[in-house]
Amino acid sequence: MPVATLVWEGGRPGHVRLIDQTLLPTQYVVVDVRTVEHMFDAIRRLVVRGAPAIGVAAGFGLLLGVQHLDERDRDDTLGRVRETAAYLAKARPTAVNLFWALERMVRRATRDHASGDGIIDGLFAEARAIFEEDKAICRKIGAVGAELLRDGATVLTHCNAGGLATVDYGTALAPIYVAADQGKRVAVFADETRPLLQGSRLTAWELHQSGIDVTLITDNMAARVMFEGRIDAVFVGADRIARNGDVANKIGTYGVAVLAREHGIPFYVCAPLSTFDPAISTGDEIPIEQRGAEEVACGFGTRTAPEGVKIYNPAFDVTPARLVTGIVTEVGLIERPSRARVEAALRAGGRI
Ligand code: MRU
Repeated sequence: MPVATLVWEGGRPGHVRLIDQTLLPTQYVVVDVRTVEHMFDAIRRLVVRGAPAIGVAAGFGLLLGVQHLDERDRDDTLGRVRETAAYLAKARPTAVNLFWALERMVRRATRDHASGDGIIDGLFAEARAIFEEDKAICRKIGAVGAELLRDGATVLTHCNAGGLATVDYGTALAPIYVAADQGKRVAVFADETRPLLQGSRLTAWELHQSGIDVTLITDNMAARVMFEGRIDAVFVGADRIARNGDVANKIGTYGVAVLAREHGIPFYVCAPLSTFDPAISTGDEIPIEQRGAEEVACGFGTRTAPEGVKIYNPAFDVTPARLVTGIVTEVGLIERPSRARVEAALRAGGRI
């Protein structure tokens, strides 16, 4: 395990303990989250971030909101569960794991023919299951992805799709951790990832902590390192994948995919099936989070743009399926993703 991103402490009642990712790498601070409002804020401010970790946080967050409801009848409890889920769903718009986890929790509550208290016991089991499944899925993605890495390979990654973005080995970094466990020597170039620097603050930190050979570059150096022949493959994560294989991921990913195609470098997306959105046909329908101007103009407290200048800050972009060599999932590799191939994987995983 590279890091313990997020854990549930205690039984019922209990609380969430998570690493404050806004403070890394200079401060390692673990925060106790005891209310649903605190969890909403943690997700919105990227204290906890990365699609699968957001899903796990949402499951536990819902539990925080309802675990103290006592002796309520079934309808009262179900009403509160739905309200709390609707509230948490507003925290961030792009990573579909948030909605997937909340819908799964609400479905569980609705399905359980139990008293109010019994419903909460069921939700506790469901949130724990989401957590445990994420761990197992990371390992499966790691095993499938490691097959794509030869001994001595160098991978370029963007943003953080590692241990900090999940509750285990990550998605895009899982193949690297698994390959290293298998004794392969694998090196990583990490894009810094403007404006919030998840690549330098989080990916470089966790890989370095884990003893993986990591080299940090600024985003505008990716073309150069590819041109110099230093990169064998690109591995990135995803926040939402459409039915045709279009992939939303951290802003800048699309540019990396275009560069990879130009240089003949395979571009792999690693994601659990919970990151696919079967309700969305193409990437055009994926909502793109717009974040505050200060992240670009005054990142980490230092002003780097003139006061009053117009700023545009989309947090994600969409890479068209035609630029994706393959999507590494827990049910195997979707090669050259198309609608038919994505649907076959979703069917294999019971998602449609
Ligand atoms: O804004 P963030 O830091 O939540 O964005 C994270 C990413 O874009 C990750 O690449 C994605 O969520 C996959 S995490 C396994």
